[in-house]
Amino acid sequence: MYFLRNFDAKIKKNNYICNKNLNIMEELTLKSTLQVAQFEELTDDEKRVVEVAKQSTYNSYAPYSHFHVGAALLLKNGTIIPGCNQENAAFPAGICAERAALFAAGAQYPDQPVELLAIAVRNNKGEFLEEPASPCGPCRQVIIETETRFKQEVRILLYGTKYTYIIDGIKQLMPLSFTEI
Ligand code: THU
Repeated sequence: MYFLRNFDAKIKKNNYICNKNLNIMEELTLKSTLQVAQFEELTDDEKRVVEVAKQSTYNSYAPYSHFHVGAALLLKNGTIIPGCNQENAAFPAGICAERAALFAAGAQYPDQPVELLAIAVRNNKGEFLEEPASPCGPCRQVIIETETRFKQEVRILLYGTKYTYIIDGIKQLMPLSFTEI
């Protein structure tokens, strides 16, 4: 009995080593880079877009989550497009702030590349988050589509009262992304 148990354990170990050597050819490490800045360190354009994102949180309709997200886009022609989350009792029918802004831009200025996207959030106490919130998966996918469409990166500013993340291109947040069929 003792011998058998020992033998089983040995087989398992060998299988593991075997699989590891045969199936794993190479291991890749995916690296993302973003910058951490104080609000005062942003450019005037960036500050303006962040301010619109902050202001947009006050138009957010979030009676279910009480998570008030504001977004703002700066288009190449200088237009700033606001957006905010719009919730619904049937949850999936709602929309995030980022997509509200991106789709509004697409509807009104289909030829204008999106240069900047800022996001700000207020919590259920009405306070801006200290640490930046990050876009959800579907919003990241829509930002990727925007970059593909206009053949240029979107600079993303995630505002928090302690610091703001600056991200040069959504691929920093979504490596190995799906871009075309
Ligand atoms: N939300 C956004 O507006 N943007 C995101 O990237 C993440 C989540 C909204 C959706 C929902 O209204 C609330 O935040 C809570 O998930």
